[in-house]
Amino acid sequence: MKRLFSAILLVASFLTLSACEADRMSEKGFSLPAGNAMSGKEAFIYMHCHECHTIVGEELPALVRSEPPFVQLGGKVTRVKTYGELVTAIINPSHKLAKGYPLDVITNDGQTKMPVYNGYMTVQELIDIVTFLQPHYDVFVPQYEYRIYP
Ligand code: HEC
Repeated sequence: MKRLFSAILLVASFLTLSACEADRMSEKGFSLPAGNAMSGKEAFIYMHCHECHTIVGEELPALVRSEPPFVQLGGKVTRVKTYGELVTAIINPSHKLAKGYPLDVITNDGQTKMPVYNGYMTVQELIDIVTFLQPHYDVFVPQYEYRIYP
């Protein structure tokens, strides 16, 4: 009986601890101030993001780079691309890889080929780039066809 009790206690404390850990790593409370899309576009070009990225509906200077990875940003998505997701895609690019590309094109040893800019991109530039990118995502609701059987 005593054993069972300590086992329950152990499991309970483990669950509490892991809940705390999850809370600590939560994105809750994350909020970006409004940015400037024009400055975001300038920063995007200045940082040569367009070497690997095209943006739907956006004219960018010609690509300097001639081999992949070429990853399209913006376009039709089935749900809102939150700024949390965009910030993460930029400051922690290997966390969640872009969908729809062969892994060997976009990664090396499981890590994204996207460079990490954290050492020199200012927070303001990050905010502006996200403000610039976000409206290029166009949320659409997929049309399902329902067949009604008589
Ligand atoms: C050397 C090529 C390269 C450069 C330069 C580059 N990226 Fe990327 N980027 C990638 C690759 C490859 C991916 C797909 C893998 C991944 O999700 O990390 C990607 C993914 C992304 C995504 C997520 C796309 C999605 O659909 O999930 C965003 C947003 C992004 N990059 C923004 C930027 C910004 C902003 C810059 C400039 C500051 C930049 N990238 C510079 C290669 C690059």
